[in-house]
Amino acid sequence: MNLKQMAGEKACEAVRNGTVVGLGTGSTVHFTIVKLGQMVREGLDIIGIPTSIRSELLAKEVGIKLTTLDEHPEVDVTIDGADEVDPNLDLIKGLGGALVREKMVASASLREVIVVDGSKMVQKLGTRSPLPVEIIQFCSGRTLKVIESLGGRPVIRMTEGEAYITDNGNFICDVHFPDGIEDPKGMEIALNNTPGIVDNGLFLGITTSVVIARDGELEIQGQPLG
Ligand code: A5P
Repeated sequence: MNLKQMAGEKACEAVRNGTVVGLGTGSTVHFTIVKLGQMVREGLDIIGIPTSIRSELLAKEVGIKLTTLDEHPEVDVTIDGADEVDPNLDLIKGLGGALVREKMVASASLREVIVVDGSKMVQKLGTRSPLPVEIIQFCSGRTLKVIESLGGRPVIRMTEGEAYITDNGNFICDVHFPDGIEDPKGMEIALNNTPGIVDNGLFLGITTSVVIARDGELEIQGQPLG
């Protein structure tokens, strides 16, 4: 079993019967959603809130009933991936492009369980991954200049020669920090105070547990899953 599958499936132990479950996005939580589908077929009663169109389609395919934050504003547990996890369990997310919906669902969740392989663990945020920032298309050049003035090097994300468009119809810029992010909280506030920025991939003080698969072993940091 590969490391992503190990972590993704292990996190299903955090899911209790009769609960609302946030369904993250990405190649690790893919295995969580598939496993939850199997558990549903075996009798688990849950209702899921997907964080992307991709996860919505997968959840439907494996037979998980779905709802929205409008119908269920409180989520019992969300399971999601991450691009970086630091020693405070703060995160960078969004290389999969779903950061805005992921943060909305995470902020409505009583527990946020993150599933990663060991390569995502860092001492300082921004040292392994760029920081994804979702920006509206209107005058995006000006928004990039403001991000540059905050010390980052923003690059509009491209896919097959075209700008990548999120599920919300916006651009993503991946912001590179040559020495990492010195003050993640200050950066989060500065970015989110910038008109034209929808949200950014810093998830600070949100994580309750991290499931790490490394060298064939599983480790839980933060709260126990059960
Ligand atoms: C999606 O927007 C992201 O936040 C993902 O959760 C993150 O990129 C981790 O994805 P992988 O599990 O595919 O590495």
